[in-house]
Amino acid sequence: MAKNRAEIYEQVEAQIVAVLEGESDRIAQMATVCCLLSEAFIDRYYWTGFYLVDKSKGDELVVGPYQGTLGCLRIAFGRGVCGEVAANGETMIVEDVHAHAGHIACDHRTNSEIVVPVYDTKNHLIAVFDVDSTYKAAFDASDQMHLEKILRAVFGKAE
Ligand code: SME
Repeated sequence: MAKNRAEIYEQVEAQIVAVLEGESDRIAQMATVCCLLSEAFIDRYYWTGFYLVDKSKGDELVVGPYQGTLGCLRIAFGRGVCGEVAANGETMIVEDVHAHAGHIACDHRTNSEIVVPVYDTKNHLIAVFDVDSTYKAAFDASDQMHLEKILRAVFGKAE
């Protein structure tokens, strides 16, 4: 029987937590999250990756581990969907990126996206997690709930 979205997320979360047990390196954690999620949702996830808060710049994101086509390297806080999420600290779901003012078009094949803020154990913003899809309105509240849960389990208050 085909698995539904929630079941797949639960399975991937368990897989991510198991693979990362005892691993505290952020790049290894981020690369694993990108790989396992994009593989599980290979059809719906077109670009999957992290933009890291660049401490040397203070208010800029720099591309981190990702799976997909070439992503832009740097995004200022407040610019595009990733920059808006970094500035506001809240998840955003955009059903049609072409209708969203300020969206940064790294790849014209992207039609919708979800961007989730990533916090460390001290509740400091360390990155945003960006998933882009070629489908319009590919993401909903279920994606938001599961992605926030997975990112909290890996980077947030897991202990
Ligand atoms: N979707 C992002 C830009 C990054 S890429 O698409 C990889 C945005 O509008 O913030």
